[in-house]
Amino acid sequence: MKVYEVEEFGIGNLRMAEREVPSPGADEVLVRFHAASVNYRDLMVVEGAYNPRMKRPAIPFSDGAGEIAAIGDAVTKWHVGDRVTPIFAQRWFDGGSSEEKRRSSLGAGAQWDGVLREYGSFSEESVVQIPEHLSFEEAATLPCAALTAWHAVVESGLTRPGETVLTLGTGGVSIFAVQFAKMAGARVFATSSSSEKIGKLIELGVDGTVNYRETADWDKAILDLTEKKGVDHTVEVGGAGTLQRSVNATRIGGHVAMIGALTGGDAFNPTPVFMKSIRLQGIFTGSRRMFEEMTRAIAANKLKPVIDRSFEFHQVKEALEYMKSGSHFGKIVVRIGEGS
Ligand SMILES: NC(=O)c1ccc[n+]([C@@H]2O[C@H](COP(=O)([O-])OP(=O)(O)OC[C@H]3O[C@@H](n4cnc5c(N)ncnc54)[C@H](OP(=O)(O)O)[C@@H]3O)[C@@H](O)[C@H]2O)c1
Repeated sequence: MKVYEVEEFGIGNLRMAEREVPSPGADEVLVRFHAASVNYRDLMVVEGAYNPRMKRPAIPFSDGAGEIAAIGDAVTKWHVGDRVTPIFAQRWFDGGSSEEKRRSSLGAGAQWDGVLREYGSFSEESVVQIPEHLSFEEAATLPCAALTAWHAVVESGLTRPGETVLTLGTGGVSIFAVQFAKMAGARVFATSSSSEKIGKLIELGVDGTVNYRETADWDKAILDLTEKKGVDHTVEVGGAGTLQRSVNATRIGGHVAMIGALTGGDAFNPTPVFMKSIRLQGIFTGSRRMFEEMTRAIAANKLKPVIDRSFEFHQVKEALEYMKSGSHFGKIVVRIGEGS
């Protein structure tokens, strides 16, 4: 089978290789992949910024979707032909996170090879069913970006109808956060660097927008949109460069879900966090139980992931360069298998 391997870091050094199709163990299923999606983390993994000591050669990318091509003798949950996606953290089924669960995430080292390959064997406990209305390409967007947004908005945020949610930028996590917040009945405010993308946010149903390039103090603009109170929830993907303003834009007693580190920045002043009794919650993807709840909600609402662009398997380097350019809106997908 064809796989991609990281041996030397750098997008240009990503190489296509041949490996044996794995045989599933007794309690494993063999997944034939049809699609994978790109996360910012994958770019960091390939460039060596995620873990410079990562064991190599490693197959990158955490998020894939496919069908079960074979099952081990002891498998009871699945049949050949079932459409599934492996979960991001292969040993996180329920409850809180732990070192062991966190370390079982796909695509960041040789021990837990990723999904940029034609076939992969996974424990029958570590895959979930794809909602019927989703294609493989759409389903491949769920394991990391969607689950993280779900964890932030629904699991940690417990977002209620009529509450307000702020999202930053228009990457994979943020667009899912917009969709889940709308699904929960919230009013959503979103920032972006681009007026074209702001147009797309409005089409998606966002209630108020701020261009953070044109309006450097976008936190004040969000306060203006919320009668000076601030939002109930902020889905914080920017990190050091945006956290201070995210806290400013959040109401007293509000919730900031800390997810990402897209930007660097100056020293952080913690005073507003305690003066405003902000709940600052770190979020790391989520468990299989959260994933299954999310897919039930996606199925019930016929929610469609927003895919910006799909690339063929031989175009993975272009897909990563495209992500690096930041021009995408929502998710970037790679097709795997026949014809790609
Ligand atoms: N904790 C977790 O479990 C977890 C899971 C998934 C992702 N993450 C992290 O979350 C972050 C986002 O991931 P992703 O996959 O959604 O990334 P992505 O798709 O690459 O998102 C990139 C977008 O972020 C926006 N952005 C960049 N700088 C910004 C700024 N200063 N202010 C506001 N928006 C900005 C831009 O949107 P515009 O062009 O519209 O401005 C850009 O297009 C990354 O740091 C990633 O590592 C963490």
